[in-house]
Amino acid sequence: MKALLILFFLVNLDTMLKTAHGTETQDQILSITPKTQEQVDILKNVSTQYETALWQPVSPHYIKEETQVHLFVPANSSETVKDLLQRHAITHEVLLANPNELIEMQTRNDSTDPRSSSTYYERYHSLEDIYFWINRTQQDNPDKVKAILIGSSYEKRPLYVLKLSVNNRPNKKAMWIDCGIHAREWISPAFCLWFVHYSLSFYKSNQDITNILDNMDVYVLPVLNPDGYHYTWTTNRMWRKNRSISRNTKCIGVDLNRNFDANWCTEGASDEPCTEIYCGAFPESESETQAVANFLRIHKDIIQIYLSIHSYSQMLLFPYSCTLEEAENHSELFEMVQEAAQKIKRHYRNSYRYGSGAKTIYLAPGGSDDWAYNLGIKYSFTFELQDRGRYGFLLPPSHISRACNEALLAVKTIALKVNEKT
Ligand code: ARG
Ligand code: ZN
Repeated sequence: MKALLILFFLVNLDTMLKTAHGTETQDQILSITPKTQEQVDILKNVSTQYETALWQPVSPHYIKEETQVHLFVPANSSETVKDLLQRHAITHEVLLANPNELIEMQTRNDSTDPRSSSTYYERYHSLEDIYFWINRTQQDNPDKVKAILIGSSYEKRPLYVLKLSVNNRPNKKAMWIDCGIHAREWISPAFCLWFVHYSLSFYKSNQDITNILDNMDVYVLPVLNPDGYHYTWTTNRMWRKNRSISRNTKCIGVDLNRNFDANWCTEGASDEPCTEIYCGAFPESESETQAVANFLRIHKDIIQIYLSIHSYSQMLLFPYSCTLEEAENHSELFEMVQEAAQKIKRHYRNSYRYGSGAKTIYLAPGGSDDWAYNLGIKYSFTFELQDRGRYGFLLPPSHISRACNEALLAVKTIALKVNEKT
C-alpha cells in the first residue's frame, strides 16, 4: 500500500513537473551526434518512422558517426523520440527550445505596404507580399526593371523573373539568380529582394554594383518554388519540396534541386516520393523546373553566370555535385569562391566553406547548378547562406541584413571577376 502510494505520488509528480516546465509539450530542434553505427541506425530510424523533420543532413542516408544531426521534433512526438534516444544511450542537446517563438518572429510585422518602411528588406515576406513587391518594383522603376512571366507552378502560381537592365548596350551579357527553390530556406527569397533593392538603390553610388550593372543585365527569380513557399507560411514551416502530387503515393512533392537533367536520380537523390530528395518521375517532370530550364536554354548564349541561393550552412559551391569528377574550369571556379570567402571573412569575420558540391557536401545529382553548367554557363554556383545551425532555417529577421550583405559581397566578387575576363 505504501509502495503504491509512493508510486502514485511519483507518477503525478512527473506529470506535474512536465506541465510546469511546459517543455515537453513544445516543438524542439535537437542536435544529436551519433557515436556508433548502432546509434546511426537508430537515428535514421527515428527520422523516418516518427513525425520529425530532418534539418541536417538533408536525408537520413547521410547520417554518419561523429557528425551532427539537426532534428526538428514536434511536441506530439517529443516524448517518444526522447525515450527512444535515452534507451539507446544517445545524448542530445536542445538546439532550439522555442522554434514556435522564432517562427512567430519570422512571420511578424509582415506589412503589406512595400518599402513604406526602411525595414522592409529586414523582414520575411509572405508569397502574396512578394507578388505585390514584384509589381511595385517594376512600376516604380519602369526604365530599369521588367517582370517576365516564365511559366507557372504546379498549383498554377505565376513564376516572375525580374530583369534588371540599366542601359541598352548591344550584346550585353547577363547573370541569373534564383531564390527559394527549397521552400523552408526563407533567407533565400529575402536575399533576392535584398539584391534587387540594393541594385536599384546603389546603382551610380556604389562602384561595384555600378560596374556590374553597366556591363551585364541581371535576371532575378525571387521564388522558384512558390507553392512550397506558400505552404511554409500557412501549414508546415519545415517543408522543402514543391507541392506536386504523384501517382500511387500519398506523399507530396518533388525536390526541385534533384529534378534537373544532370545525372538525374543517381546516388544522392531518391526515386521514393516520400523522401525529401525525391527526384520526380523523370528529368524536368516539374513545371517549375521546366520554366527555369526553358528560360535558360533560350538565353544560354547571353547568360554567363548562374547562381542559386539556398540555406543553411555557409558554403560557396560550384559544379559538380552530380559526380566527383572535376569541372573543366575547376581551378578558375575554385579561385573565385576562395576570393569571395576571403572577402567575407575580412569584412564580416564569418567563415564560408567552398569548393565543388560533391566534394564539399555530398553527391547530389539533378541540381540546377550542374545542369546550367552543362548547358554551357561556365560560371555556375550554389550559395548556402547563414547560418551554421544556431537557428538553421529559423534565422531571426535581425540577421537578414548580415546574411544578405555577405552573399552580396560574394556575388559582387564573382560578377566583377567574370567581367574582367570577358
Ligand atoms: N543543399 C543543397 C541541396 O541539397 C546543395 C546544392 C548543391 N548543388 C547541387 N547541385 N546539389 O540541394
Ligand atoms: Zn536548399
